[in-house]
Order: sequence, then structure tokens, then C-alpha cells
Amino acid sequence: MFVTRRVEFSAAHVCRRPDLDEEANRALYGPAANPHGHGHNFLVEVTLEGEPDPLTGMVLDLKQLKEILRQEVVEPMDHRFLNAEVPPFDRVVPTPENLAVEIWRRLTPHFNGRVRLHAVRVYETEDLWADYFGESA
Ligand code: NI
Repeated sequence: MFVTRRVEFSAAHVCRRPDLDEEANRALYGPAANPHGHGHNFLVEVTLEGEPDPLTGMVLDLKQLKEILRQEVVEPMDHRFLNAEVPPFDRVVPTPENLAVEIWRRLTPHFNGRVRLHAVRVYETEDLWADYFGESA
């Protein structure tokens, strides 16, 4: 069975590569390359896979999941300028694709038993998102 929890954080980012000049960055990322940055309300959906506990009827205690997401995603990323304040985005372009990979990396050590991480989805806007199905820890 799969269960999904959604969390949201607000953050600013810039999509540009330091090895490219202004023109090439504009061509690649459009206005998102503006070095002053711009904000999004990022939505993150974390899907877990496991069997419901026969006693509780739950795959994972939702309070526990909420706390893991707070600690690994919301607390470090909410109201941050990702490129400047949240490694590895000082050197990795913080696209929704790369955010999904990084969130997976942060979460996967917490789910290495009965419950496994299945997917991380990151919405940058309501009509743009990335799904990542990485390797389990
Ligand atoms: Ni953006």
C-alpha cells in the first residue's frame, strides 16, 4: 500500500549555472536565471510504501512522518534563499528535479525497515512538478 503526505515550504531560488554567461543562462532558464532570485511555495509529496500495521491500521504513525518532514525539509528550507543557505544548492541548480533528489537523499535513511520511501514529488508551481523514485537506503 502507498500513503502520501504533503508538506509546503516557501523559498527563493535562482536557476543559473555559474559556468555560463548571462546570455546562455537566460537562454536556458529564462527569467528564472535572474540572480536576485524569485520565490515559490514549493509543495512536496512524500509517498511511502508498506503494509498497514494490523493494530493501528496505519503504514506509519502520521505524527512521526510529520516530524521527519519538519526536521528534514520544512525547517531547513522554509523561508530560505536555497542557493545561498541550503547545501548542496550552492553548487547544484535548485530545479524541482534536483530538489526532489535532495529531499529523497535526506529522507531515505528514515525509512529502511518495514516502511520504505517510494517517491518524492516536488511542485514548483501547480502545473510543474518532478517525481523521483530513487534507490532506498
Ligand atoms: Ni523558479
